[in-house]
Amino acid sequence: MNAQRRLTGRVALVTGAARGIGRAFCEAYAHEGARVVIADIDHVGAQGVADRIGESAIAVHIDVREQASIDSAVAQVIDRFGHIDILVNNAAVFDLDPIVDITRESYNRLFDINVSGTLFTLQAVARHMIERGKGGKIINMASQAGRRGEPLVAVYCATKAAVISLTQSAGLNLIKHGINVNAIAPGVVDGEHWDGVDAKFAQAEGLAPGEKKSTVGAAVPFGRMATPADLSGMAIFLASSDADYIVAQTYNVDGGNWMN
Ligand SMILES: NC(=O)c1ccc[n+]([C@@H]2O[C@H](COP(=O)([O-])OP(=O)(O)OC[C@H]3O[C@@H](n4cnc5c(N)ncnc54)[C@H](O)[C@@H]3O)[C@@H](O)[C@H]2O)c1
Repeated sequence: MNAQRRLTGRVALVTGAARGIGRAFCEAYAHEGARVVIADIDHVGAQGVADRIGESAIAVHIDVREQASIDSAVAQVIDRFGHIDILVNNAAVFDLDPIVDITRESYNRLFDINVSGTLFTLQAVARHMIERGKGGKIINMASQAGRRGEPLVAVYCATKAAVISLTQSAGLNLIKHGINVNAIAPGVVDGEHWDGVDAKFAQAEGLAPGEKKSTVGAAVPFGRMATPADLSGMAIFLASSDADYIVAQTYNVDGGNWMN
């Protein structure tokens, strides 16, 4: 066992971890010595990630829209590993439309998963952490989209602004229990998520496939889109005891797109 590993003995629950950023965080946490729970509505994908990580990982089905599913997932982790030290609220969905075309169905779906899912998963895990009395680390996935509106992305931007706000309130409310709630605001991160975003922009703006990705990547001051692994350092830091004095913050990890 490498004594330098930063999360040895910790148990981390990561929602939306069957692919993309959540998967990268689970791989990084396992590398740092944590036991990881790959929680996703895509259980086959989650099981595949757990199998690749090995014996320190398990897959749990979760649909963050359903309270019973959240409660069941949390109970399964406690049953299997005894406790939860780290939660990453990562599951989210994206949509885009001009303001005049936004449907209630799209609005409700995005708020249900991105905002209610984040709050009520955070609540379920915070209750466990308070009862256990040993604190914990909760990391919410915000976005640069939560910092500023975009003409075609009103609802997704609003959900991510809500995540930043919830992080502030929950961070202030829970620090007395030794629970640090913070958030990461990525910029543009390549992967399956952005393949879908690119396709939606291609349709909405009459672009060629891949054109939106090229444009947003070239506009990043760092010079390219992020990979999920570019975010892992911040996710490890915020989950570690190095972040004990950090409360209610949202950190930009976006290659320079946004400045505080
Ligand atoms: N990719 C980016 O450019 C980017 C930028 C800023 C913020 N983010 C945020 O980072 C997080 C991860 O992004 P990603 O690119 O890895 O996304 P992704 O779409 O690749 O992965 C999201 C995961 O969430 C799961 N999921 C969807 N609905 C769910 C539900 N109801 N219950 C449980 N799981 C559900 C999906 O199955 C999927 O595995 C999200 O919160 C996203 O908003 C991403």
